[in-house]
Amino acid sequence: MVADQATGLREMAEKNKVTSRARVLTITSGKGGVGKSSLSVNLGLALVKAGKKVLLFDADLGMANVNVLLGIIPKFNLYHVIKGHKTLREIIISTPDGLDMIAGASGYSSLADLPEEARHSLIESFDEISPEYDFMIIDTGAGVGANVVGFASPADEVIVVTTPEPTAITDAYGVIKSIVMSSPGKPLRLIVNRTTSSLEGKKVAERVINITRQFLSAEVESIGFIYEDENVPRSVRKQQPYYSLYPKSKASSCLNAVSARLLNIPEDSFQTNESIGHFFRRLLGA
Ligand SMILES: Nc1ncnc2c1ncn2[C@@H]1O[C@H](COP(=O)(O)OP(=O)(O)OP(=O)(O)O)[C@@H](O)[C@H]1O
Ligand SMILES: [Mg+2]
Repeated sequence: MVADQATGLREMAEKNKVTSRARVLTITSGKGGVGKSSLSVNLGLALVKAGKKVLLFDADLGMANVNVLLGIIPKFNLYHVIKGHKTLREIIISTPDGLDMIAGASGYSSLADLPEEARHSLIESFDEISPEYDFMIIDTGAGVGANVVGFASPADEVIVVTTPEPTAITDAYGVIKSIVMSSPGKPLRLIVNRTTSSLEGKKVAERVINITRQFLSAEVESIGFIYEDENVPRSVRKQQPYYSLYPKSKASSCLNAVSARLLNIPEDSFQTNESIGHFFRRLLGA
């Protein structure tokens, strides 16, 4: 009887632990320069404004630039954690706008090559901090390479960014195809960036949704568009996010809509039944 109760309590605790973990969103694209990093930072801020605790992880191992957009020079990154010089908690940077970030380990082309011990301690560290966050946003590089697909497969959802340019649309389809092949059933979302009208955004999204349905028998859900807005490059030059600098801009209003849309997606449409350790366990091939 007592043992039963103990088991029940343990199960309840497990359940609570699981539901309180961060929702992991990987942001990616086929073509480079379509606005992934800009989206990662500013969507993160929109979610913070909606009362969520957000951790941004710059996983663009080639060219880490989330910190540049935030005007921050990180002293330490994941490399220092991997080497055992710092704990994960010690390298988290809290920005003035309430967004937390982790700088990726530039120079590590594949995290899967980590030694066993470093891998396990990294997974444990992420497990430990996960309940403190509602969202973890992962900014990746562009393309269909192993790194991009690697970060997509363990995520709860993948957000593919495209612009209305035909080359960007074709490449978005390319990256969707590699994700569908490597992680069938992965919830896929789409954001059309730099549109000149909402109609254009809608048309581009429909094209991507239709070709994915027709050729891959998979579903992509459009979660909004972002207007072409001169405040975006202006804020990049000032090294401050446009969502903070120009909260009333067209781009910022679009992000409010995207954030509301994301928060309205029911939990059963993505995977919340595992601890966040699963993400890094899969990422690191442990
Ligand atoms: N909505 C927008 N309106 C105007 N300019 C934009 C918009 N979104 C992004 N840009 C501009 O596009 C450029 C590329 O943006 P960003 O660095 O976010 O792209 P990226 O996809 O992360 O690039 P990379 O593939 O190199 O990582 C930036 O100079 C930014 O100012
Ligand atoms: Mg980028």
